[in-house]
Amino acid sequence: MAGKLVYFLLLVVVMVAMPVYSEAQDNTTTMDNLTENDIPKFVTTKPQFTEGIFPCSNCHASMTPNRQRRELSFHTEIQLNHAKRQRWCLDCHDADNRNVLKLANGDHVTFEESYNLCGQCHGNIFRDWKTGIHGKRIGYWNGDKTYYLCVNCHNPHSPHFKPLKPLPMPAHPQDVTKVKSTTSIEVDGRKLYIPVYEK
Ligand code: HEC
Ligand code: HEC
Ligand code: HEC
Ligand code: HEC
Repeated sequence: MAGKLVYFLLLVVVMVAMPVYSEAQDNTTTMDNLTENDIPKFVTTKPQFTEGIFPCSNCHASMTPNRQRRELSFHTEIQLNHAKRQRWCLDCHDADNRNVLKLANGDHVTFEESYNLCGQCHGNIFRDWKTGIHGKRIGYWNGDKTYYLCVNCHNPHSPHFKPLKPLPMPAHPQDVTKVKSTTSIEVDGRKLYIPVYEK
């Protein structure tokens, strides 16, 4: 009797587990089949390096890493303004292999997976990003998706968004007759035409 019960329970377990398994197989970006310790892999947009800077090893392979926090004579365009009092470059960049990023536990991640670096400290945002609430993803609602990397929108060295200057408002219908001409301004590389009113 006890043996039969065990077989019955086993059958139930198998039946419950089966649909979960097949679902996980045909949807590679699903989060449901991940355990907490898996480092998930997402299809992401590409990192956007300055031309000629990657691979970093072109220069760094032959250099001795200098772990000293200091004013740099190279990469001077990089202003560290991201919890800078608690941090230095080599907390994120690996000293010995400059082509990869370094997690707090010493593991390496590629620049394609930089979200794992950011996710260490911004856990809530990382969770939202994975489910598409924060940031941006494109693709199919029930199929493959491409995620925008955090660094496509945030500068990792100085992630605070610069406040945007509001654009002038469009002409109100009742003022349209007072529009003398238009003038153009440039916004994100695009020309926008705004009205010029008579005095
Ligand atoms: C919070 C983690 C973090 C810190 C701290 C950090 N970096 Fe970075 N850095 C990154 C990430 C992530 C990228 C990749 C950006 C991308 O994919 O577009 C990057 C990119 C770069 C690049 C390539 C930039 C380019 O123009 O393409 C250089 C050079 C660099 N970092 C140097 C430094 C230096 C020097 C410091 C210290 C002054 C520093 N980083 C501090 C995370 C960090
Ligand atoms: C054209 C050569 C060149 C390239 C390419 C280059 N670096 Fe550097 N980098 C330097 C030099 C030179 C210094 C030392 C500057 C100093 O000591 O003042 C430096 C210093 C650094 C430092 C400070 C720590 C240290 O070891 O001195 C970091 C972090 C760094 N680079 C990251 C990167 C990353 C990440 C990339 C690739 C995305 C990269 N670099 C690509 C030339 C380069
Ligand atoms: C080691 C922990 C740590 C890591 C790793 C880290 N951050 Fe941060 N981040 C912080 C802290 C602490 C602050 C708040 C202090 C500050 O802004 O100076 C912050 C602030 C921010 C802000 C808000 C800035 C503002 O003022 O609005 C953004 C956006 C951000 N981080 C994005 C990123 C991105 C993108 C990455 C990955 C490239 C990343 N962070 C990696 C600790 C981290
Ligand atoms: C498509 C662009 C985009 C992507 C991708 C993106 N963010 Fe953001 N993020 C934003 C915008 C826009 C804000 C709001 C800025 C503001 O209000 O000043 C923001 C705000 C933040 C803040 C500040 C939140 C707060 O409460 O003050 C943090 C931290 C942050 N993002 C981290 C991340 C991390 C980590 C990732 C990747 C896992 C990421 N972001 C991906 C656009 C993006």
